[in-house]
Amino acid sequence: LPGAGAPRSAAAPQPAAAAAAAPQRPRLLMSAPEHFEVSYAINPWMQPDLWRPDDATLRRHARAGWDALRATYEGLGAAVETMSPAAGLPDMVFTANAAVVIDRQVLLARFRHPERQGEEAHGRALFEQLRARRLVDRLHVLPEGVCFEGNGDAVVDNTRGICWMGYGPRSDRRASETLQEVARRPVLALELVDPRFYHLDTCLSLLSGGELLAVKRAFSPQGWQQLQDIAGTQLVEMPEEDALQLAANAVCIGRDLVMGHCSATLRQLLQERGYRAQVVPLDAFRRSGGSARCLTLELGT
Ligand code: ARG
Repeated sequence: LPGAGAPRSAAAPQPAAAAAAAPQRPRLLMSAPEHFEVSYAINPWMQPDLWRPDDATLRRHARAGWDALRATYEGLGAAVETMSPAAGLPDMVFTANAAVVIDRQVLLARFRHPERQGEEAHGRALFEQLRARRLVDRLHVLPEGVCFEGNGDAVVDNTRGICWMGYGPRSDRRASETLQEVARRPVLALELVDPRFYHLDTCLSLLSGGELLAVKRAFSPQGWQQLQDIAGTQLVEMPEEDALQLAANAVCIGRDLVMGHCSATLRQLLQERGYRAQVVPLDAFRRSGGSARCLTLELGT
């Protein structure tokens, strides 16, 4: 057998072609679950009364899951930046909500619920540091009174040169105007109608080849129609069982999809399209309504 790196056949790509095709290294932002808990309820997944009795065990599970998630990303070649957690802000672990970063432009979040508004100052400080390190360019702020929960409600679709945005439960539809200016690309705003799928990233997952895994029931009929019109056969309906485990809340790195749950059916479906499921035990975070993608903010490559 040829050793690693040895040419396997005459059809092996030329070095130049291989270099051109090599995926860039994604940079991701995470925040450790030091203060993570379910102490209030701002979505239907959160039940403080069910959390409390098992608090210590669940915290341990959360920490183990978070460490495994970070290790999985690093194993796939991603660079992980971290944001220091803060006491009293248990949902800060969900860095996806801090902002959206598109082509080095940062649109900072404004949270819907007072419980999370304290995270905004931490997010701004962190992005100022990232700007000083030249990892991002400009920071943009939404007009007064307009809510927008960052990557939670924005899926940057480089295959199509657009940005999908979710609105209703958390982000305001009006935020799409600011997002469009910052992103310098069309923004397609989709209404979210099922309270369990309160952020776009709980019901829409973009794969690296442009496929969109989506939870049909989460969208208004017009929204679903729009997804169909634009994605065509690349729109794949997420199996019900997986949808209800927040499997759509996944991060795609190359051909690997990092997620908190994957049924045999979904695994098969992904395999047929050339993707591998990388399942990480994130059940403790699902009790807060989050999974892999909520715990991660894509900063660019
Ligand atoms: N408990 C958090 C909330 O309700 C979960 C956030 C999940 N984040 C996400 N991007 N979907 O705000």
